[in-house]
Amino acid sequence: MVYSRSLLSGAILASTASAGVISARQAASINDAFVAAGKLYYGNIADSNTLGIAENEAILTADFGQVTPENSMKWDATEPTQGQFSFSGSDAVAEYAASNNKLLRGHTLLWHSQLPSWVSSISDPTALTEAIQGHIAGVAGQYKGQVYAWDVCNEIFDEDGSLRDSVFSQVLGEDFVRIAFEAAREADPDAKLYINDYNLDDASYAKTQGMVSKVTEWLAAGIPIDGIGSQSHLGAGGSAGTQGALEALAGTGVSEVAITELDIAGASADDYVAVTNACLNVEACVGITVWGVSDANSWRPGENPLLFDGSYQPKDAYNAILETLGA
Ligand code: XIL
Repeated sequence: MVYSRSLLSGAILASTASAGVISARQAASINDAFVAAGKLYYGNIADSNTLGIAENEAILTADFGQVTPENSMKWDATEPTQGQFSFSGSDAVAEYAASNNKLLRGHTLLWHSQLPSWVSSISDPTALTEAIQGHIAGVAGQYKGQVYAWDVCNEIFDEDGSLRDSVFSQVLGEDFVRIAFEAAREADPDAKLYINDYNLDDASYAKTQGMVSKVTEWLAAGIPIDGIGSQSHLGAGGSAGTQGALEALAGTGVSEVAITELDIAGASADDYVAVTNACLNVEACVGITVWGVSDANSWRPGENPLLFDGSYQPKDAYNAILETLGA
């Protein structure tokens, strides 16, 4: 089996397979080019299912510098029963990252979704506080010193910029934010601690403004938030406001911002280039994580939102990013 691709530069990049394993040798990768341009990483997601696909793993290893587990670090996967932790899936991603020199982003410690029912049925504030603290100590503790950044709180805002209704906000008001960030800081003092959300794609949008004003307030109150992640699950043409939004998020005073889950319906080269340039142009933006390698494995089936097609071939957007980065 031969895996090859051609780039706009005209270079033919080929890799040969031995003993059934594909090994890619790349003249250029978008991660290397982004790092050369001063950023920390151009990353992607992984879990055992996609790491087990040889073409997928070869592309991840060759082209990306950071991995986020797509599902295996979520609460339902890591602590399905209170106090009983399960790390088989997430350990596989952490081991892949360590042995392939990839930065690891942890995702995610507190989220209303993919949350086991033992958590969502808690109604006592002390019990929920202890559940959050126990979960974060267990999971962030497992990967202490290995994670570049943690998405501590995920999707805690509504579209109007107010706090989302969830077991966390119902039982603890907004105190759960401090509880979670302080627990994460204690469990892994060197990890960058992020608040992460979607639809933060325009500075004038209510949800972006809600995030900006609450994070500003929480920083002033001493909550240890280091970064804001903008998921960036975009529709076609949805990249126009990205740079302005990143500037607004950075303006809160967090030390960094990142694009954490990028995918774009139709994957136009213009949109991918605009998001890449937005991060380049905003000093606080440390990196971009694409939410999937191939359209074959996207969580948005039928929308073809990724950089590699269903046959693991690079799409125009991939080549355009490389060209933009001068690679
Ligand atoms: C998605 C995964 O890609 C799917 O496999 C899973 O079924 C649902 O979650 N926001 C997030 C991610 O923060 O964790 C979600 O990932 C996509 C939306």
